[in-house]
Amino acid sequence: MFITFCVLFLYQTVSLDAFTIANETNLRSHLFNGNYNANVRPEQMLTIRILFNLLTVNELNIKEQSFEVSGWLTMLWDDSRLSWKGDEYGGVNYIFASQTDLWRPALVISNAVKQFEIIEDEYTPLRIGNQGRITWEPPGIYKVSCTPDITYYPFDTQTCHLTIQSWGYNLLELNVSVLEKGINLKEFQENGEWDLIDSETKVGQSTDAKNDEYGQLLFCFTLRRKSQYYWLNMLLPVIVNSILTALVFALPAESGEKMGYSLTTLLSFAVLLTLISDKIPSTSTSTSIVVVYFSVVLVLGAMAVIFSTMVLGFYFRENDEPVPFYLRFLFKNIMGRLVCYKKCTESSNVVPYGLSENQPTEKQHTGSTIKRDMYLQREQTQLKLKSSSWVESEDDFDWKDISKVFDTFMLRLYILIITSSTAGFLAAGSLGG
Ligand SMILES: *[C@@H]1O[C@H](CO)[C@@H](O)[C@H](O)[C@H]1NC(C)=O
Ligand SMILES: *[C@@H]1O[C@H](CO)[C@@H](O)[C@H](O)[C@H]1NC(C)=O
Repeated sequence: MFITFCVLFLYQTVSLDAFTIANETNLRSHLFNGNYNANVRPEQMLTIRILFNLLTVNELNIKEQSFEVSGWLTMLWDDSRLSWKGDEYGGVNYIFASQTDLWRPALVISNAVKQFEIIEDEYTPLRIGNQGRITWEPPGIYKVSCTPDITYYPFDTQTCHLTIQSWGYNLLELNVSVLEKGINLKEFQENGEWDLIDSETKVGQSTDAKNDEYGQLLFCFTLRRKSQYYWLNMLLPVIVNSILTALVFALPAESGEKMGYSLTTLLSFAVLLTLISDKIPSTSTSTSIVVVYFSVVLVLGAMAVIFSTMVLGFYFRENDEPVPFYLRFLFKNIMGRLVCYKKCTESSNVVPYGLSENQPTEKQHTGSTIKRDMYLQREQTQLKLKSSSWVESEDDFDWKDISKVFDTFMLRLYILIITSSTAGFLAAGSLGG
């Protein structure tokens, strides 16, 4: 019972899918009986529907301005000459043909930078359905031109497109249209460097010198660079280096290390730049914000050497040489105030030293002894405070003070500039990317 069922079932499926060599040979001799001419197009105006099936994004080369993808095209069109009734040929519903047997559209990838030629594949069979529907799926690796915008590198997003165009047959003879919305990504495999964030298909047209229009289809790919690698290998070292540059102003002049330190950070940044410079895309159409940022850090490093030299120059001046008025004004009244140099401790010593000695006995001798004791105690602590800073706090603003004010001022200025430029760079990058 079960066996007979199986046999029946098998017989059923076989008879549905009926293919015998004899039947198909028979069908072929009927279809291609000498009346079929592969140069004659199927209709006056034929529309070809096309879909791009993406396998991989191979490369987006900024320097070469090229974009390479692997995939295959699905093309569909109707040819009424190639239709038959399946039952009449023992249920044969599909036959296959190679590209030389049939009429097929002439299409090119019109922005290709490699293999600019009519799309063909002699080994891919064309599937012909019994309604005359022809399906052709030639695979290929397409390298096309793409103009990248590297302004926001390495947080950039690029849009590249693959343009497929009718060649030879103009728009009134052959039109191209979209088979499915977008690009088929079912078989897509991730790229290590780029995230495919969007894809779409657009219909366009091109006009030649004779004003003939040609159908065109654009497969657009929007890719975002994966910036993880650049964080660890490019941005982090530069940011750390720029922070180290600022620290030269925190180093006391007495240590004798200032020059060595500032030159070393400058040198290490130069070495870092040579290591990463080949990763930075080199085009002159747009300047990358990362290049601007690196230049700022480099200039800051070079300026730090100059400023440290000045700081040391001030520090080691002989003190018997008077400080010129303008330097005193600049460093004491402007920069000194800005960085609060000695001003903050001075402000508690409002009462001048010389006057305060006799005041308590005169003014407060009527008050209680406890009050007076407290006052004296406070006076004594104030004296102690003053004795340490008294000599400088009056008017002796010497060269060492200038160098210290300059150092403190520069340290704060550098921290401000570095923080704001780094934040600005990262903000611009995250906005653009
Ligand atoms: C198709 O093949 C079957 C089985 O081989 C045969 O009986 C039938 O006559 C064939 N039909 C035609 C149209 O050749
Ligand atoms: C070609 O096809 C496109 C999309 O299907 C359509 O918008 C356009 O009108 C067609 N062109 C002609 C000349 O028929």
